[in-house]
Amino acid sequence: MTYKRILLKLSGEALMGEKQFGIDNNRIAEYAKEIKEVVNLGVQVAIVIGGGNIFRGIQAEEGGMERTQGDYMGMLATVINGMALQSALETIGVYTRLQTAIEMKEIAEPFIKRKAVRHLEKGRVVIFGAGTGNPYFTTDTAACLRAIEIEADIILKGTRVDGIYSADPEKDANATKFHTISFEEVYNKGLNIMDMTAFTLCNENKLPIIVFDMNTSGNLLKVVNQETNVGTLVEF
Ligand code: GTP
Repeated sequence: MTYKRILLKLSGEALMGEKQFGIDNNRIAEYAKEIKEVVNLGVQVAIVIGGGNIFRGIQAEEGGMERTQGDYMGMLATVINGMALQSALETIGVYTRLQTAIEMKEIAEPFIKRKAVRHLEKGRVVIFGAGTGNPYFTTDTAACLRAIEIEADIILKGTRVDGIYSADPEKDANATKFHTISFEEVYNKGLNIMDMTAFTLCNENKLPIIVFDMNTSGNLLKVVNQETNVGTLVEF
């Protein structure tokens, strides 16, 4: 059985692919192809994408820039990524709509929940840009918020690792992967999946999360088909 409506969170940094900065055309084309496979199953797909490949608010603060200024610049970066993904999807015949939390009418529709849901019902991929529209919130929080608003069944967080581990698998060879884990266990073990604002939003609104490796071809489809060997499910 597949999910009916998903919110896919993509990392901006992952869009760099082999590059040091910006957008790798091959990587974004690959993502578009994977998303199309899921759309073809009849799954309603909404997407939130980060902006870290272009600009990170936190780094700006370290350089002496005011935090809010940096955060707004980061939000604009997510719009650039959203536009790139929109083009990549439309190139291969997937219908899309881009909605932004900060109004920029010449480029995208403003975020309107009811419109977003209508687009999804019509089989269009809806990309939400500009995060929540507010500083001090991450794109993970934006993803959770939008997922709750559009009543997605689940949030799929695409990362570089194939799930949640007992320790950082890139640093600790003994780290083991969880196939499923509860929200409570994640809190108790102090595991780092998303920032706490995002994670708590999901917990309080009973929105399950799957963390999976988006950079392995076919994984998104497997996750949507609820194949349990891919990624980690955070459930209640
Ligand atoms: P339905 O009529 O409900 O099926 O949706 P629709 O999106 O096709 O209708 P609409 O007439 O709202 O939009 C037509 C096109 O205009 C779509 O490509 C939208 O993304 C785009 N569009 C709608 N509103 C805006 C806006 O405020 N700004 C921009 N830039 N584009 C918009």
